[in-house]
Formats: sequence, C-alpha cells, structure tokens
Amino acid sequence: MTKLTTKVAKKSISAAATARAAATHAVTDSTRARATATTPARQRPIQNPKSKIVPSEARSLTNPSDSAFYQPSDAFFHANRPTALTFDDVSLATRYSEILPRDADLATSLSDTLRLTIPIISSDMDTVTESRMAIAMALNGGLGLIHYNMPPAEQVREVARVKHHIHGFLQNPITIRPDALVADLLAKIEQKTYAFSTFPVTDDAGLLLGLVSGNVVKERYKTKKIADVMTPRASLITENIRAVAPDPIRAADTFFNNHIGIHKMLVVDDAGHLNGMVTSSDVERITAETKTLRKPARDTAFRLVVGAALSPIRKPDGALDREKILAHTAALVAENVDAVAVSTAHGHTAGVGDMVRLVRDAFPRLTIIAGNVTSAGGVAYLADCGANAIKIGQGPGSICTTRMVAGVGIPQLTALYVAAQGAKTAAAKNKNIRIIADGGITKSGDIVKALTLADAVILGGLLAGCREAPGEIMEINGKFYKQYRGMGSLAAMKSGSAARYGHDKNDATRKLTAEGIEALKEVSGDADDVLANLIGGIQSGMGYLGAKTLPALRANARFMRVSPAGQKEAAPHDVVEVSTRKQ
Ligand code: IMP
Repeated sequence: MTKLTTKVAKKSISAAATARAAATHAVTDSTRARATATTPARQRPIQNPKSKIVPSEARSLTNPSDSAFYQPSDAFFHANRPTALTFDDVSLATRYSEILPRDADLATSLSDTLRLTIPIISSDMDTVTESRMAIAMALNGGLGLIHYNMPPAEQVREVARVKHHIHGFLQNPITIRPDALVADLLAKIEQKTYAFSTFPVTDDAGLLLGLVSGNVVKERYKTKKIADVMTPRASLITENIRAVAPDPIRAADTFFNNHIGIHKMLVVDDAGHLNGMVTSSDVERITAETKTLRKPARDTAFRLVVGAALSPIRKPDGALDREKILAHTAALVAENVDAVAVSTAHGHTAGVGDMVRLVRDAFPRLTIIAGNVTSAGGVAYLADCGANAIKIGQGPGSICTTRMVAGVGIPQLTALYVAAQGAKTAAAKNKNIRIIADGGITKSGDIVKALTLADAVILGGLLAGCREAPGEIMEINGKFYKQYRGMGSLAAMKSGSAARYGHDKNDATRKLTAEGIEALKEVSGDADDVLANLIGGIQSGMGYLGAKTLPALRANARFMRVSPAGQKEAAPHDVVEVSTRKQ
C-alpha cells in the first residue's frame, strides 16, 4: 500500500525535516548521477562535445569573476573575521568536474597506520556506540569509538566483540532454554524487537539441545514447552567449528547448497557446545555485497577496526591514576584496539596533555585521538603531546549546552579552519596530524563542508536513532524513538562520564553542572541505510566540486557566506511537501 502524506512547508522548517530533505536530496542526486544515461545536464560533468579538450579557463581557477566571489578557505575565513561561522552560514561553489559522484573515493586515515574507507566515526557516547554500532561502522568502512560509561573490563569485552566479529557468523546467537514456554519466547521477541523467530535451544552450559523454528513460535502454541516443539539435536545437521573457522561464510555457502531447505547452519565444538550460527539470508546478502562498492575498514589481520574512549581516571587527590589508565589501555591493546580516544570537553589542558603523553610513552605505535579543542594552539599542543588525530568542537553538539552554561565555544566551521592551522604548524615539525570535526552535523551537506577542512567527522545525533545504537526502542503516539543523551547530561555523568567535564561523580558535596541534555531521536533504521544516504550525499558534493578524493575536495573548496534569505532558499520552501512511502 502506498501512503501519501502532505504537509505544508513552513517558513522555519524543522531541523529534522531539513536533515531528512537533505538526505533524500542526497540519495536522489547520487542515484541520478549513477544512471549516467539519464543524468540531467545540471548534474552531468561539463564536457566539450567535440573533443576531450576543456577550455583552460574552466580547468584553472583563474576566472576573475569566480575568484572574486568564491574564495578559498584562507581568504574566506580571514575576510569574515571576527565573525565565527558554522555549516549553514556557508555554501560551497561548484567547480569544473570530470568526476561522477559514484567514482568519488572517500578513503581517509586517522594516523599513518589507521585507514578508513569512509571518513565517518561514531561518537563515543553511551547512547551511540557499543560493539553493535562499532561493527556496523567498520563494515561500512568507518570507525566506532566505544564509550567508557561502563566498567573497564566490559569496555575491553566490547572491543573484543568487534575484533572477533566475522561478518555473517553469529558467535553468540540468542538462545532459549528447553524448559521455557513458547509464550516466554514470544514475550522476549516483542520486548527486544527481534526481527527473527528461530532460536537454538541450549542448556545452561551452552550444550546444543535443539532448534526452535519460527513456524512453532506462535500464539497457538504459547502454553507448550520449548522442549516439546523444538527440532531435537539428533535431527539437526551441524558443522564443527574446526572445519568452518577458516572461512565460515564460504563453509555456510557450501552447507546451504548441500542441504536444501535448511536456513541455519549451527556450529558446535567437539563436545557439542553451540559455537555460532550462520543464516542463509546473511550469506546471500554478503555474497551480494562483495559485488558492491562497500569496503569494510579492517586491520592488517583482516579484523574490523574499532576504537575505545579512555577515561581520565583520577585518584582522590585529583592526580591521574597512571597505573589504572595504563593497565586499562594495555588490556585494550591486548584485544588489538585500533585507536584510543582521550575524550574531554576541554583538551587544551595540562591534564589531557599529561594523559596523552602517558599513553603515547607507553604505547608508541597506538593511534591516539584526543580533544576537544577549537584553536590552532590546542591542536599544536595535543600534537606535541603525542596525539595523531585531534577532535575539534566545543559546543556544536545537538545535545550540548556548553555554550549556554559556560558561555564558551566556537561555531564549528570557523573552529575547524582555525584548528587546521595548528595541524599546519605540526606538519612543519614533520607531524602528520589529522583533524576530526566533532558535533553539530545534521545532514550530509554539513559533512561535505566539514571535510573541506577536516579528515573525518564524528557523528552522534545522526546515528543515535539507528537500531545498532544502544538502548531500547520506545513508542510514543505511534512513533518510534531511542534515547539520546549528552555525555555531560546529569544522567550520563552519574553513569561515569563526569570526568570528561571536569567533575567528580562521587563528590556529593558539589552539584554536577550539566553541559548536555537528555533527548529522544526518532528511530532512523539500520546504520547501513543511514550511512548509505550520507555517503551518497558526500559523493554528490565531491562530484559538484570536481573532487575524486578528499584531499582534492579540500583543494577545490571555494566558500561563500549565505544570508538568512539564502539559508531559507537552501531548504525546501514555498511548496507543499509530499512524502510517498511504501508500507
Ligand atoms: P552531534 O553529532 O551534534 O549530536 O554531537 C555529538 C558530539 O557532541 C559528541 O561527539 C561530543 O563531542 C559532543 N557531546 C557529547 N555529549 C555532550 C554533552 O553532554 N555536552 C556537550 N557536548 C557533548
């Protein structure tokens, strides 16, 4: 059924609607560009119909009218001093292009050893990134930073889950006990919003006892015991972990070819304990994916990449607890973590510098991300302390109240420009420092603008509504939401992140002052879909700027200020918005 909804586009279109519109536009544009035969003229690269020779004026940057109005970053940001600008204050000029969006390459790096195939990182927030999100990020070519509002040992386990993840091979499938009732299983499926209804049956020791399949997980059988409706172990065809471990997906492909009508490959050890499961639909999806352009971000041992936030653990006297910090970092490194992030609200401080130096001295080759700063001096300082990549952003986050509470912070584009000057200072000292734009991104166009000055972006709010973000889905008036809260919100600080904002969560004598709020995000589907929309938008932007790579995007970027009328023009306006979606 096709549902048609209409809405009058108001003068001040909501941020969410703008983001949605931008994402839709991005997809539409990139899809359009992919269909080369039908590409509209305004999107198509300029081509000389008679020959491959393009007028030199189009190639060079010297057309005087263009250069008078559309300025490179140095000229532009200096000309706008002392006003600080953010994403919507600015638009990018189109450039001569020979690049189709689909050919734009989004590869970037956060250090000389950590390479990503897309420049997107999920934020180390307790409502954004745990292992599920980190796995989705790495599979799409990005990086997830696992938050630290959990016991240190649990964070290490979360990292291990990503590093041990084999795409399609579920190492810890959800199981059910034989003495449970079908009703219990139905309740579990509803509560956890599982999208599947076939479950292995195991005992408390993990011994495989059977498989309960979707066709008996029905209200009709709710009073029956799982043991009475399951397919018993003796009737199941299983595979041994030693046989499938080298390449579980290939093994599963062969298994499903040989066992017609079976959709789950159950993997056991020699003693019969369940070691994992592969479903035929996953194998089909993965086989299809290998033909697409999706390139996961992997380490040299072919494991997915992952990062983890480090808490600046302090002793009662306020000094860094060096032993604990180093022991925790060592445990993360033992699980092959690819990067650690020293995440604080104010990174240009003696405490953060000490912590970066401590970790750098102990782990010379580990990629260290540190922040947050908004100044060239801050970047140069953290670079000198040993950081590889520096997070830029103070106050732009969608759940952030730092600018209201502390009166401090810099609108994000100007902050990025100024901070990038610090990376140039470091480059003069032979340090290749990466800049990461952190916060305030609400649509793919913002990412394109950020990448004209930065090597990667960190997303919080744009990913918090994904299924892979931690937290339950809740329904309010027929709409589905997930919780999204600032790490400086009272609730998050009480769960552990107070140190990030310079507070002590155990200090009952002083009130914690929140610099973030607790909020809800509408459920936005799978991270795969959200990222695909964003990637399409970034590639679209690169196509418009004639940039095949991110360094070319930076070189080609020409900026202009946008007036309030220009901002209004940039979003859908003076129309009745119609959204058509299949139900
Ligand atoms: P968003 O993508 O605009 O939602 O911003 C996410 C970013 O906001 C995070 O990556 C952090 O840098 C920052 N952030 C997270 N929690 C807080 C907070 O409570 N106050 C201020 N900034 C925050």
